[in-house]
Amino acid sequence: MSEEQQQLKRRVAAAALEYLEEGMVLGVGTGSTVNALLDQLAPWVPRLRGAVSSSEGSTRRLRELGVPVLDLNEVDDLGLYIDGADETNPRLQLIKGGGAALTREKIVAAAARRFICIVDQSKLVERLGRFPLPVEVIPMARNLVARELTHLGGRPVHRPGVTTDNGNHILDVHDLAIDAPEVLETAINQIAGVVTVGLFARRPADLLLVGSGQGVRRIEKPA
Ligand code: 5RP
Repeated sequence: MSEEQQQLKRRVAAAALEYLEEGMVLGVGTGSTVNALLDQLAPWVPRLRGAVSSSEGSTRRLRELGVPVLDLNEVDDLGLYIDGADETNPRLQLIKGGGAALTREKIVAAAARRFICIVDQSKLVERLGRFPLPVEVIPMARNLVARELTHLGGRPVHRPGVTTDNGNHILDVHDLAIDAPEVLETAINQIAGVVTVGLFARRPADLLLVGSGQGVRRIEKPA
């Protein structure tokens, strides 16, 4: 990653910290942009009640910082989730899962009242699908799911050497023209053996923070 990209990630992560509140439980995503947030979280540590984490990697970083990592089952009200994305369209629908954490990310996003997505401007697209769509699958169903995804018009590629935190495999689906994200999300969810599709269309982000050379742009989810 270039120093300029790293700088954009640091900048957008700093902007997200403005949304933290005293005593809150924070949902924490996964990836290099979230790591830039965690790099700046130290002053907030004594003021947070804890965090719900979306991956073993983020859990390790949170524990190193001294943040209590809570089981989502113990948290009735998760006010805020902050996470990155691989792509976002203008409706704040996302492709996620480049870091293979999509299942827990989708769970935490679903539980949160507000989802703030933090990206640099390279992630903005008009139509989702340039980034291969990650799908987490039960290992024994990998080829079955791959055939079904081919019927849907995609070109699934097994991500080599990757086992998710849940013990599953990832198929990255290339060449999909995602014109109807909600419809495709539902269709992929219906395939036997799919654990999660990294399309966050039915539950998009509520607020997008975009880091660019000019500063941080705030984009609310359209009504
Ligand atoms: C991990 C994710 C990440 O949010 C996504 O891959 C973006 O990562 P980065 O901030 O490193 O660009 O979905 O599963």
